[in-house]
Amino acid sequence: MAKIVGILNTSHVPAIGKAIHQNLQQDPYWKPFFDGFPPIRAWLDRVKPDIVVSCFNDHGLNFFLDKQPTFAIGAAPEYRSEDEGWGIPTMPSFPGAEDLSWHIRDRLIRDEFDMVTCQEMLVDHAFTLPMALLWPEQKWPVRSVPVCVNTVLFPLPSARRCYKLGEAIGRAIAAFPEDAKVLVIGSGGLSHQLEGERAGFINKEFDLKFMDSMVNDPQWATQFSDVDLVEQAGNEGVELLSWLIARGTVAGAVKVVHSNFHIPISNTAAATMLLEPV
Ligand code: DHB
Ligand code: FE
Repeated sequence: MAKIVGILNTSHVPAIGKAIHQNLQQDPYWKPFFDGFPPIRAWLDRVKPDIVVSCFNDHGLNFFLDKQPTFAIGAAPEYRSEDEGWGIPTMPSFPGAEDLSWHIRDRLIRDEFDMVTCQEMLVDHAFTLPMALLWPEQKWPVRSVPVCVNTVLFPLPSARRCYKLGEAIGRAIAAFPEDAKVLVIGSGGLSHQLEGERAGFINKEFDLKFMDSMVNDPQWATQFSDVDLVEQAGNEGVELLSWLIARGTVAGAVKVVHSNFHIPISNTAAATMLLEPV
């Protein structure tokens, strides 16, 4: 049977990709962020997940204002990295876990989540950076299932709906008949706003409460509407919806294996949290 072995939530600021490319991990600006990862890599070495289910937001590579699914799932043999800008080399393609993708997708639709099924999908920094932070050699030891949530075209799916999607994904994984250790990734956040009068907005108090809620009150953020979340976390801080999907996949309690919070990385309060089901 497939089993969720952990949830890894992390920010995905594109400048992280440039810092990796330029080997700036020990640079004073970057060190507090990158120092969050060695304990997580030690955990990965021990637990060795087989499959990643990555919950993230596409930033306009596949979906934008012209076509924007509320939720989409990849069911492709591989996912090609086509990140934007800065001349950073693209990463090796990510092999897909097609069998698990189709299984989750079937279950979700029967569970009344109207997923868009993508037999082709490119992946941007929201998918690729967490992978490169976990496996810096960029030789992927896992197959992947990408799950996309709309954070671009309002209204967004509610925080409650995202949590419920996570619950349904968790049930689907538990019902997958093959043995597989699954790591669920939630990519994005925490508070940031990139444009307008509030560009640069960060809300440390909200972020710390949200991180605490991942362990102690996982449905706390489901009280907020999409507009509430913009107000609290910033226009791009709504990416925390991916954390909620990821957290929803584990029905019971979780414990923190490792957690890191640092302000700022670029315009973002950068947070990383590895959770383990107990
Ligand atoms: C930044 C953060 C993001 O989540 C993103 O997708 C793009 C840019 C930033 O802080 O620079
Ligand atoms: Fe983003």
